[in-house]
Amino acid sequence: MTYINDHYLKLTAGYLFPEIGRRVTAFCDANPAANVIRLGIGDVTEPLAPAVIQAMHAAVDELAERSSFRGYGPEQGYDFLREAIAEHDYQARGAKVDADEIFVSDGSKCDSGNILDIFGEDNVIAVVDPVYPVYVDTNVMAGHTGPADASGRYGGLVYLPVTAENDFVPELPKQRVDLIYLCYPNNPTGVVATKEMLKRWVEYAQQNGSIILYDAAYEAFITDPAIPHSIYEIDGAREVAIEFRSFSKTAGFTGVRCAFTVIPKDLKGKTRDGREVPIHPLWNRRHCTKFNGVSYPVQRGAAAIYSPEGRQQVRETIAFYLANAKLVREALTKLGIQVYGGVNAPYVWLKTPGKLSSWDFFDKLLQEAHLVGTPGSGFGACGEGYFRLSAFNSRANVEEAVRRFAKIM
Ligand code: MLT
Repeated sequence: MTYINDHYLKLTAGYLFPEIGRRVTAFCDANPAANVIRLGIGDVTEPLAPAVIQAMHAAVDELAERSSFRGYGPEQGYDFLREAIAEHDYQARGAKVDADEIFVSDGSKCDSGNILDIFGEDNVIAVVDPVYPVYVDTNVMAGHTGPADASGRYGGLVYLPVTAENDFVPELPKQRVDLIYLCYPNNPTGVVATKEMLKRWVEYAQQNGSIILYDAAYEAFITDPAIPHSIYEIDGAREVAIEFRSFSKTAGFTGVRCAFTVIPKDLKGKTRDGREVPIHPLWNRRHCTKFNGVSYPVQRGAAAIYSPEGRQQVRETIAFYLANAKLVREALTKLGIQVYGGVNAPYVWLKTPGKLSSWDFFDKLLQEAHLVGTPGSGFGACGEGYFRLSAFNSRANVEEAVRRFAKIM
């Protein structure tokens, strides 16, 4: 028989969100009349912005004509999109990123997993705990860890705990690490990174020859002008960081699929025999070999969010979700529940009432209030005793959800 990748057998449970989906489906099958409100997975609910729709329609019309038809596009993305990203997301904020350092893709989840293709086997990897599970699971799949212990932590990974006790700010690793995953605004806790905090990380990476994998998929939710949107707003970050960005939450593209990854040309790694080599050509090679680009209508739709109307429309939708988050925060606080995040992020992180475990609270909410959230322990051992609520839903559902909370608390 053919050998399998044994590392997959180390994965402790199903991927978190399908596991939640499985439990919710079982509940709905047993209770068909229940009106279940989902504040679990961070999936958008509001329709695409009119500017996006218009651009996508126009692009489809172009494909309908021989004279304007397009086949394969550039693997790295069309220039019109890469240039718009470089100008509006980076140069306008004083961050030096050029269009040819941007790789358009079909998702940050995919990119943050696939990036491991270009790194060696023996790197020491640090993750914050709790953490977006993709960073951990993809390292397990790639054979970069030992088996999991009873708390679900994998041998070989360096975990940086964040809890209310340290204000959800991870300490720098006590040992040298090669790759560090950071996500801000944070999934799942909804907290943000200050400039000072990112400076400390950049300095750490400079001193230790490390690379930061910076996931900024939720940057569009930052409303506080003091909070950096990109790690490249920090001096020196070009030499030590890769940044992942996505149109999923920014522009409602979770189903449409478009994202990008920035690999600055200044970023270097080293070979086994100690030579320094640039990372950019490696990712370019990987991208061209394993990926054929995002479809033309989708890239036109993504570029439309940088037009004046597109920007305004997308901002309104983000403000709508942030108002949902505020509603949840305020209602739960009134009920005496300790909440975090949800100000510059679409996620509200809460301490489970009555010291319930994360999954017990999940079951209580589902059974008694027909509400779905995400158990904090699904994001890591330090998420135990916490719970995540997403602000992605209609206003009516969010209002109903907080009414139901009040009834069962
Ligand atoms: C989440 O709920 O954490 C996200 O929707 C997951 C994702 O973006 O893949």
